[in-house]
Amino acid sequence: MTWSPDSWRQKTVGQDVAYPDAEALARALARISALPPLVTSWEVEALKDKLADAARGEAFLLQGGDCAESFDDCTSDSIAVKLKILLQMSLVLVHGTRKPVIRLGRIAGQYAKPRSADTETRGEVTLPSYRGDLVNRSPFTEEDRTPDPELLLKGYQHAGMTLNFIRALADSGFADLHHPEYWNIDFARPSKYWEQYRQLVENIRDSISFMEAISGSDSRGAQRVDVYTSHEALSLNYELAQTREVPHRRGWYNLTTHFPWIGMRTCQVDGAHVEYCRGIRNPLGIKIGPGMSAEWLGELLEVLHPDNEPGRLVLIHRFGAGKIADQLPKAIEAVRAAGKQVVWCADPMHGNTETTAEGIKTRRFDRILDELEQAFDIHAEMGSVLGGVHIELTGENVTECTGGSSGVEDADLHRAYKSKVDPRLNYEQALEISMRIAARIRGQSAQG
Ligand code: PEP
Ligand code: CO
Repeated sequence: MTWSPDSWRQKTVGQDVAYPDAEALARALARISALPPLVTSWEVEALKDKLADAARGEAFLLQGGDCAESFDDCTSDSIAVKLKILLQMSLVLVHGTRKPVIRLGRIAGQYAKPRSADTETRGEVTLPSYRGDLVNRSPFTEEDRTPDPELLLKGYQHAGMTLNFIRALADSGFADLHHPEYWNIDFARPSKYWEQYRQLVENIRDSISFMEAISGSDSRGAQRVDVYTSHEALSLNYELAQTREVPHRRGWYNLTTHFPWIGMRTCQVDGAHVEYCRGIRNPLGIKIGPGMSAEWLGELLEVLHPDNEPGRLVLIHRFGAGKIADQLPKAIEAVRAAGKQVVWCADPMHGNTETTAEGIKTRRFDRILDELEQAFDIHAEMGSVLGGVHIELTGENVTECTGGSSGVEDADLHRAYKSKVDPRLNYEQALEISMRIAARIRGQSAQG
């Protein structure tokens, strides 16, 4: 079947949304189509080049951010704090790995969520599930839960506003390594990991001034950073509205984001999401979980990665701490058998979600760390490279995941639980995990 930007319409659309007013939907999409792109093909290709380095173990991918962004969080503080934690973590990782770190936010467009049930029932009332701010609203009323096409346009606008602020911060001095104190977070408490971080920052500052003194010039490379965006390409109507050909390049680009990914619930080989993604030139992620067989993965590689283009495909594995030892080796073998090169990226969050006795969704820091440790071990044992991590986190002081040095316990979960969907690591937990990863990679290369 030949591909076109809307050939996916011939396929089964997983997680489809029933918009009651088709004309309003068409109007909103036409407006998005007419608006300028949020990212450029140059940036998209630059990210692909860097991902090719990560596939070879010459760079490390840090993909992180909210499970679901909300429009209400499109504020100066909220965006700045997300950027701060990404920058802090990437600094820790650069220091630990001695490799370039690719900063890829789940940000500026992570507004659509797959749900395991189409409806939600409370008491006598059944309404459509909340599917993210791009689709409907979370309050439990019929009006709020009815899919509203205007939200697609709002999603584009909020992604644009978020990205505008990120770009300005990343370019204009905020990200300057000469001043890592700009990234400090007001509420950071004295703790083992905070102290370690401060020490590391001092060392880096020292090294930079040493290099500048020796070379007699300033380290221009240290004054700005690249930050890329990613989101789950779930709402294909939205993605399609900004899928374009660009002058001087071959093929079609999704210009709502640098890096779309296919979620685990929509990665059927003959489904609409795979059909859409196979035809775009962006680098892509696929989430792979316990239900995916070697044959299935082999078929996905054939469809989504036929040319084995360097940097094209990131396999984000999320098996869970209890299943990774059984599942990951089979996936590595399948990729090898297909003769493909991919970036392997560990998502230690989505296979480790549990519900407390009080019915609160949480994740335990120990399980998250355990899955990560196993991922490093298995890749190393099999002569493969773990090229990155994918983490749900926030720079805020929330209590959504338990454990780690932050000491959040089940009883604290109600205190500052803000996520409308999955639980995220809070600031301290995120910093701690980056230190653990850095220590792990450093240990590995010291042995190697
Ligand atoms: C997610 O990344 O928020 C998500 C829904 O993940 P998965 O598709 O891996 O379940
Ligand atoms: Co999630």
